[in-house]
Amino acid sequence: MTRTRTQVGIVGAGPAGLTLGHLLQLEGIDTVILEDRSRDHIEARIRAGVIEQAIVDLLVEAGAGERLQREGLVHHGIELQFAGERHRIPLSDLAGGRAIVIYGQTEIVKDLIRLRLEAGCPLHFDVEDVSVHGLDTERPLIRYRREGRDEELECEVIAGCDGYHGVCRPSIPAGVLFEFSREYPFGWLGILAEVAPSSDELVYAHHERGFALSSLRSPELSRLYVQCSPDEDLAEWPDERIWDELQTRLGLEGWTLAEGPILERGVTGMRSYVCEPMRYRRLFLAGDAAHIVPPTGAKGLNLALHDVRVLAEALADWSRSGSTAGLDAYSDTCLRRVWQAEHFSWWMTQMLHRPEDHDPFDVRLQLSQLRYVTSSDAAARSLAENYVGLEMV
Ligand code: FAD
Ligand code: DHB
Repeated sequence: MTRTRTQVGIVGAGPAGLTLGHLLQLEGIDTVILEDRSRDHIEARIRAGVIEQAIVDLLVEAGAGERLQREGLVHHGIELQFAGERHRIPLSDLAGGRAIVIYGQTEIVKDLIRLRLEAGCPLHFDVEDVSVHGLDTERPLIRYRREGRDEELECEVIAGCDGYHGVCRPSIPAGVLFEFSREYPFGWLGILAEVAPSSDELVYAHHERGFALSSLRSPELSRLYVQCSPDEDLAEWPDERIWDELQTRLGLEGWTLAEGPILERGVTGMRSYVCEPMRYRRLFLAGDAAHIVPPTGAKGLNLALHDVRVLAEALADWSRSGSTAGLDAYSDTCLRRVWQAEHFSWWMTQMLHRPEDHDPFDVRLQLSQLRYVTSSDAAARSLAENYVGLEMV
């Protein structure tokens, strides 16, 4: 068994773990990042694409936003479609000039991996059997196997950035965490298609056959989603069926959705989940390891990076001054934003998705809510300021 030491052991090289590693490196704090998948796998995993202005600013200020600034597409509005019409929500006009940037999560991950490897900081892919120990002590440990050898990493602090299915959260003793969750009876079937986006802005569509979303990754790549069942079998969705559903749900008179080769496809279930607190002694949870939102509000990636910004500042303060005030406030500080995003994501989800039984009462409420959001300045402003990201600590 080889034993090494670091200040902060980071489990998971998703957006949360990689950004935390980068921010701590700028503060002169040593970290080791352990990831159980391959670099190719995590760089190819298509996920989020909507980045809040504050997160763009964070990455740019940290020197990790050069390509994001060059290639990211700034959007100042989104469209809501229902009852055969589209209504624009002018996000920037309603939310103090703030905007969103379209830039793939995979691209953020690639940028951060490249920066970390160029800086010579430890980032180990393909590690096996990761487990955390000694959480009640001053020197918690991470054990894992790397290239066939057992290794042990002694840490001052462990950051659990290992997503919803990771090992860190389940390692917290029973009875410490309170968990809150809600499962939704639907999922999203998402595709990446090699065709120029057919609309300039994102379109969130309410339709009697179910929700659909038109998004993009670049001027040449469309990203599209249709509501499906959570355990949908992709084999039952040949390309033609996917395009037919998208054409029907997003269709408008005088507008057609351009089709192209499908490069990637997948089904995502939808759930809301929060654990409280986001800390146990010297183990700090961040991102999807601590909370999940349904994707309708485009908040998951953004929340993960808000968490690690708070955690990096608290760890830097502790390292500089010995004060644990920031670390002690970490969970409460993050949970305020987390619950705000949980509410917004739940609200967008229930307003736009076809209810399981298509209950006419629920559908009337959805249409009424959509009419209100697209006709009242106050309601549109509320959506806009949540969508671009609330200004809070
Ligand atoms: P993850 O990205 O899950 O990273 C965790 C990492 O830990 C992974 O690399 C995993 O391999 C690794 N890991 C797991 N277990 C272990 C272990 N035992 N040992 C070592 N490593 C481990 N969010 C938005 O903000 N905007 C959007 O537009 C948006 N759209 C989405 C669309 C889809 C289809 C999906 C699926 C998600 C979307 N999200 C969106 C959510 C967003 O992708 C996640 O919230 C984000 O990935 C969270 O980052 P994370 O680093 O916390 O977790
Ligand atoms: C995308 C994903 C979302 O969850 C969302 O709300 C908007 C866009 C996307 O992948 O582009």
